[in-house]
Amino acid sequence: MLTQEENEVLTRVGPGTPMGELFRRYWLPIAFSADLHDEPLARRILCEDLVVYRTKDGKVGVIDERCAHRRTSMTLGLSEEGGIRCGYHGWRYDLEGRCIEQPAEKKLHEGLQLKAYPAEELGGMIFVYMGPKPAPLLPRYDLFTMDHAFRDIGVAIMEFNWLQAMENSVDPIHAEWLHGRLQDEVRAREGKSTLGHYHHRTHVKVGFDLFKYGIVKRRVLEGGSEDEDGWKVGHPLIFPNMLKMGGGTGFSQFQIRVPIDDTRTYNIFYTAYTPPNGERPESAEVPVYEVPLKDARGKWLLDFIDGQDIAAWAEQGKITDRTKEQLGASDMGIVMLRRTYKEQLDAVKDGKDPLAVVRDADENRFIEIPIEKTPPFADKRRFIMGLLETQAVRYSPLNDRMKALFS
Ligand code: FES
Ligand SMILES: [Fe+2]
Repeated sequence: MLTQEENEVLTRVGPGTPMGELFRRYWLPIAFSADLHDEPLARRILCEDLVVYRTKDGKVGVIDERCAHRRTSMTLGLSEEGGIRCGYHGWRYDLEGRCIEQPAEKKLHEGLQLKAYPAEELGGMIFVYMGPKPAPLLPRYDLFTMDHAFRDIGVAIMEFNWLQAMENSVDPIHAEWLHGRLQDEVRAREGKSTLGHYHHRTHVKVGFDLFKYGIVKRRVLEGGSEDEDGWKVGHPLIFPNMLKMGGGTGFSQFQIRVPIDDTRTYNIFYTAYTPPNGERPESAEVPVYEVPLKDARGKWLLDFIDGQDIAAWAEQGKITDRTKEQLGASDMGIVMLRRTYKEQLDAVKDGKDPLAVVRDADENRFIEIPIEKTPPFADKRRFIMGLLETQAVRYSPLNDRMKALFS
């Protein structure tokens, strides 16, 4: 249970809030390369309205949504070398947001500056850094940078606070219920096969440890032991807002939760596939697809894993009232995550870099995040075929091809 004040501190992400300041120490995905061409894109992130654009010379920029002149939207902007020009009266801004041309003015109004943030492109995504300078390095995590992988990006917009999603990433027990029992019942109701092998083993032990980039989750399932990867290596929550799952199956995924504001969150499913036959993608472009959450009647889609997760998180409320919850011993991961966020809030207050901020170029050549090689719940082939069938990736344009390559 938290006090109202503690709940506010942990959930609010606007400028000047403690958690908002913590999020502003990290690079966050704000758009996808496949969507960003000449036309600028409106994006709201951490309660700030911004525009993402690509310059004529191929750079990416992020600028305040509204022009300094008479406040029209920079989504009407024109791509320029090294910046963007407002489409209304042609005022021109460089990548740092300085207004460097005002065509109809005899004399330039000096020193006009729009808010602008550094942006970088990696692995098919555009990342923004909204915090104090100097900016840290954009972490080159394995899935963003590994060679020869097929990749795709699924996106769901979730109408609730980001912390509900992150707490789920330190909550292994839910898998056997939400993705086991409930999934089976829902699929049976809908006349679908029950995938009886899947997520049915009970957790006999869970454990959590801090590591350099976040929190490792460990588990022993019924009939298993601490000698197995699920305990020895585990799988990680990467600070502050990512989950890594998949492991040694040729299917690895980051789920990245980016707060739009206090009550809306992007869930980004960033998947890398390395099929067993060594086949490689023909193009470097990373396709983006939408992950639907509700059917035509407005009912949650509960026949796939991520639909179940997101429905459960949404039904906790726009911002879960944690003054009314009753945590149990099995919620030790949640307690640790909240404590870790609080410790990192303190680090930021003391002027230090929080966990998983990277400033060392050597370290940043390729950051491998350890993960169990033996998949939980089923053998490799059944595990991955189950994922391709019942995970967000089932909506990917690559799904049929991946099913064929992994079958
Ligand atoms: S409103 Fe942008 S140039 Fe006038
Ligand atoms: Fe889940």
